[in-house]
Formats: sequence, C-alpha cells, structure tokens
Amino acid sequence: MYKITKLNRKHIDELVQIDYESEHENDRKNNTTKAEMKKEAIRRFGKGQEMFFGYTENKELIGYVTLIPFFPGYKHCEVYWLAVRKKNQGKGIGRTLMHFIENYAKKKGFRKVFAYTGKNMKKTRKFYEKIGYKFVNEFPGYYGYKTGNTTAVLYCKRI
Ligand SMILES: CC(C)(COP(=O)(O)OP(=O)(O)OC[C@H]1O[C@@H](n2cnc3c(N)ncnc32)[C@H](O)[C@@H]1OP(=O)(O)O)[C@@H](O)C(=O)NCCC(=O)NCCS
Repeated sequence: MYKITKLNRKHIDELVQIDYESEHENDRKNNTTKAEMKKEAIRRFGKGQEMFFGYTENKELIGYVTLIPFFPGYKHCEVYWLAVRKKNQGKGIGRTLMHFIENYAKKKGFRKVFAYTGKNMKKTRKFYEKIGYKFVNEFPGYYGYKTGNTTAVLYCKRI
C-alpha cells in the first residue's frame, strides 16, 4: 500500500536523495552534486511558495511532486518538481503523483496545470505527453544550467 502525504523541511535530506537517485537527465549531464541539490531544496523551502507531497511505500519515501499555486493566467497553477527514484521508475508512480496533484489542484479551484521541462529531456517529455499534457511553447534561455541545454518547453493539461 502507498500513501501520499504533505512534506516539510524535515524531509529535505530525503528529497535530495530522491533527486539524486531519480537520474534527472540534465543533472546527470551537468554532474550536479548532492550539495548543490540540497542548496536548491533549501532555497525552494525558503521561498515558501511550493507545496511538497511525497509518495511512501512501506515507510520509504520514493517519489515526490510539488505545486506552486499560481501561474500567469486565470485559475492556473504549476507543477514545479517531480522525481521518482530510478529503481522505482516505470511502475506508475509518476503518473499516480501527477493524478494526485491534479485532483488536489482541481479541488482548490484550478482549471489548468502547467509544467516546464528541458527541451532536450526526451524521456520526461514522453512521460508528460503520455499522461495527457499538451505542448504549449518553448523558451530559449529559460534555464541557467551549466551546459548549453537552456531551452525549456512548457506543457499544460486542463483538469
Ligand atoms: C519523469 C518521471 C517522474 C516518470 O516517473 P515514472 O514513475 O517512471 O513514470 P510512470 O511509470 O508513472 O509512467 C507513466 C507513463 O509514462 C511513460 N514513460 C515514463 N517514463 C518514460 C520514458 N523514459 N520513456 C518513455 N515513456 C515513459 C510510461 O511508459 C507510462 O505510460 P504507460 O503506463 O502507458 O506505459 C521519472 O522518470 C523521473 O523521476 N525522472 C527524472 C526526474 C525528472 O525528469 N523529473 C521531471 C522534471 S521536469
């Protein structure tokens, strides 16, 4: 049995471990270190905008999704982060987390969920397309990554 629960700052180390183990395509290319990931997680908690939800199975946190409850436009919100440990990928956990956040957003009165990802992130783009997200536009220079892959693509789903 799995549970999806709200997370807080106490989970930062576990979230960093999930980010590290999710083998995010650009983080791998950029050799992003755990220390850099932790700095980023602390920054995001510090901003106080993002809501964090974790997927737990047998008391182990194996994936998480986050929501920022506003986005340019009317009744729009943004899935800011999504990660599942590599060893647990391909088993429907990413889809389950996205369904959870879409239902959550719908209950809060939102009508569209947006998500950015890297233009070069072929696997992640396939995932979003598979679960019903439509390509909106691309934004060169959106990401400040260390490599040249700075173009973001924006996806959207009506909920
Ligand atoms: C993207 C991610 C969250 C997907 O999670 P997951 O648990 O592996 O995905 P699911 O098992 O729920 O897959 C849902 C659907 O997407 C498809 N899909 C998932 N990964 C895919 C891939 N690498 N290539 C093609 N299709 C893929 C699956 O086939 C599945 O469709 P199906 O049920 O019809 O077979 C996970 O791969 C991950 O953590 N990646 C690294 C971090 C990342 O890129 N996060 C997004 C940041 S923008």
